[in-house]
Amino acid sequence: MTLIPVNLAGNGYDILVESGALNNAAQHLKDHVKNDRVFVVTDTNVSAKWRQPLESDLEKSGIKVISHVLPAGEQTKSWAVLEQLTDWLLDEGAERSDILIALGGGVIGDLTGFAASILKRGCNFIQIPTSLLAQVDSSVGGKTAINSRAGKNLIGRFNQPRFVLIDPLVLGTLPDRELRAGYAEVVKYGLINNAPFFEWCEENSDKLLGRDPDALSYAITESVKAKAGIVAEDEKELSGRRALLNLGHTFGHALEAETGYSSDLVHGEAVAAGMALAFHYSARRGHCTETDAARVERHLAQAGLPHSLDSASVKASGERLVQHMLHDKKMTGGNLPFLLGNAIGETFLADDVDLEDVAAFLDQAE
Ligand code: GLY
Repeated sequence: MTLIPVNLAGNGYDILVESGALNNAAQHLKDHVKNDRVFVVTDTNVSAKWRQPLESDLEKSGIKVISHVLPAGEQTKSWAVLEQLTDWLLDEGAERSDILIALGGGVIGDLTGFAASILKRGCNFIQIPTSLLAQVDSSVGGKTAINSRAGKNLIGRFNQPRFVLIDPLVLGTLPDRELRAGYAEVVKYGLINNAPFFEWCEENSDKLLGRDPDALSYAITESVKAKAGIVAEDEKELSGRRALLNLGHTFGHALEAETGYSSDLVHGEAVAAGMALAFHYSARRGHCTETDAARVERHLAQAGLPHSLDSASVKASGERLVQHMLHDKKMTGGNLPFLLGNAIGETFLADDVDLEDVAAFLDQAE
């Protein structure tokens, strides 16, 4: 069992990583439960697999579980579903002192966290992430949001959970493609500031993607420690430190927009291709070597992830992709900051990137 603190003044919390923790949820969650009840929000896929073990352990301990099952998929992160969820909570008599539990992947975590931030001006919530991506990224750090007509995650709040319970064993039933997509965010932590962890990924990705429990637990723990450390330094992405977590996301955002945020290219896959492009672009600007960029691309390819425009099946012109980037929510004062690499494990925020040069680079990239 590993307990990782997120050290924030006034709203810090712990993240538990423990195989089998879902079956002992009551023991870990009971201190956060008020009114002897919890409101569990989940989706149809996760409900079929993990709702029953969670509910039965909580109910054995005298905690009443009131559950709401939403449709699985990105369309659930909408105003309409937020309204439906908050209406349901109010109909059920939820009070500000109650606690919501988000049992699911990033969609459920983001929606539930946002609902918790506005219900009766704010109640508490707990994250129980059930996808690798949610375990290593979205459940940690308090970014909550829904999508709007203008784009993804544009309506939301920073709202830290009270506790995060991560059970690597729940990944046993995750579809291969989702596991791989989540793995891209694991690799990201090595590329950002931890070259030895990237080497570990190179040596152990086969085991991890084969769902070896020790490899999964190690990778999740290292990723969560890395993210918790960065979030503690820059909770609201003000100093540029937290922005490091967006490595691959600016290029990736353009690829996702080009593919219509469809299942043709899911978020983690776009981030994978985006990270390879970010390193190749860094090499073009002379920040890192072509050898480093090729090594990043090779590892992502070996992990079965998109690692280039071709492998992401994106054929758009550089100009068109740059147009997509202009709608990125990271745009500030007409400037788009890019995460680039001086080397594997040494990334930095560049705010002097010429978008015409990015377009020319993308036109030449394969
Ligand atoms: N996923 C990036 C962040 O949480 O800041």
